[in-house]
Amino acid sequence: MTAKPSQRPNSPSPRLRESRLSTLHLAPESLGFALDCAAQAIGAVRLGSALPAALQSVFVSAPEGAAAASRGATQDIAYRTMRRLGTADWLIARQVRKAPPPHVANVLACALALLLDEAQNAAYAPFTVVDQAVNAISARREFAFAKGLVNAVLRHFLRERTTLTEAAQADLVACWNYPVWWIKALQQAWPANWQNLLTAGNQQGPLTLRVNPRHATVEAYLLRLQETQIGATRAGEYAVRLDTPMPVERIPGFNQGVVSVQDAGAQLAAQWLKVQDGMRVLDACAAPGGKTGHLLELADINLIALESDASRARRINENLQRLGLSAEIRIGDAGAPSQWRNADEPLFDRILADVPCSASGIVRRHPDIRWLRRMSDIPALVAEQRRILGALWPLVKPGGELLYVTCSVFPEEGEQQAQWFEGTWKDAVRLDAPGQLLPATAGTPGTLAQAAAFDTRQGSSPLPDHDGFFYARFQKR
Ligand SMILES: C[S@@+](CC[C@H](N)C(=O)[O-])C[C@H]1O[C@@H](n2cnc3c(N)ncnc32)[C@H](O)[C@@H]1O
Repeated sequence: MTAKPSQRPNSPSPRLRESRLSTLHLAPESLGFALDCAAQAIGAVRLGSALPAALQSVFVSAPEGAAAASRGATQDIAYRTMRRLGTADWLIARQVRKAPPPHVANVLACALALLLDEAQNAAYAPFTVVDQAVNAISARREFAFAKGLVNAVLRHFLRERTTLTEAAQADLVACWNYPVWWIKALQQAWPANWQNLLTAGNQQGPLTLRVNPRHATVEAYLLRLQETQIGATRAGEYAVRLDTPMPVERIPGFNQGVVSVQDAGAQLAAQWLKVQDGMRVLDACAAPGGKTGHLLELADINLIALESDASRARRINENLQRLGLSAEIRIGDAGAPSQWRNADEPLFDRILADVPCSASGIVRRHPDIRWLRRMSDIPALVAEQRRILGALWPLVKPGGELLYVTCSVFPEEGEQQAQWFEGTWKDAVRLDAPGQLLPATAGTPGTLAQAAAFDTRQGSSPLPDHDGFFYARFQKR
């Protein structure tokens, strides 16, 4: 099973194998407890669950109070492990003769991820990681037999680290930490900078905010942050990047709707839809409502937010309530307008089609995606995107515009779709738009900066740090 495209946080978690584990006798604030919890989540991802849902299941089944004590450390370890899973699995296979039971392998993978990340992870000394991993395994009655193995593998890794990590470079998956098909797809699509793309996807994304122009300018908000000693820089027309991530409740003005969390590349959607007061607008794939909120911040429009997943649609409402803005929320399939729209309703001045996609452009924030997707998902997504576009285009009024958006770096979901659209709809005129926005990471010198380019149609990206997106804009004759 694969996670639903572009729906990371709410993907249903398959039944956790670990729910059958024996009681864990470890202090909830210990590293051993966090390693055990993270290993359970990694196990669920290997079975097809999205990581946020997997972590949620682990926290829900943890003893009362324990989840709160270990949440931060568990999340950190699980996310690190997703970024290091190829190397960790290779190191385990290299050092053991017979594959260990899944939970043992997952504890090992989590511990190895911490050891591999040691430079960025001053929190735990290497021997603490080893001891705590051994504790985690010993604390589960059914796996205690493997404590010697865990100890031996981790200590051997520490002794032979240089030789082992060098040897791992020869294996594509161990070297890059993506499935082979993904690496090959990027090699083919972006021969000059596939390595930069893979590297960018292994960084941790920054916390980027969108400033609501109904409340403040970017300059005024930066001053407000400065007054509270929060370091930040401008990262786009409405975007502010915090130097250090922090919980949203602590971000000045967040609860009052002054700012929202949104990647700088995603913020281009509302800007490029070029909405004006009084326009009738459809946000066709709207949940959780990030772009819906931005559109409403930019102009007084008559907005319908459409979403096929009712549980995700609730999040649009929550977001808009915080912003003090409103839209008409409809539940339905964008590819079947008769489900949610009367035939006599007026057509739209603007349609935003932020369609379901591989989410290959946002892997730095969702490092589980690469392990959940299958190569066969791509043609299925391409067909779904065409079905949705084909149903939406007749709803654009003459002179009106449709903006096609994906958070993908695969050309099948980007430029190739735009060309298909242009070739299929004779009344469509392609307008300027960012095109393919490849991920860029600020502050990383050299090669990564080269990945920050719009496609050759558009020149270079004006944004310093953003996820990967594709944008194409069409006007109806
Ligand atoms: C990329 S996400 C949208 C993100 C959103 N625009 C935002 O900025 O917060 C795609 C959304 O489309 C929804 N979706 C998938 N297929 C759909 C369909 N056929 N009709 C309407 N919505 C659909 C998914 O449930 C998902 O919430």
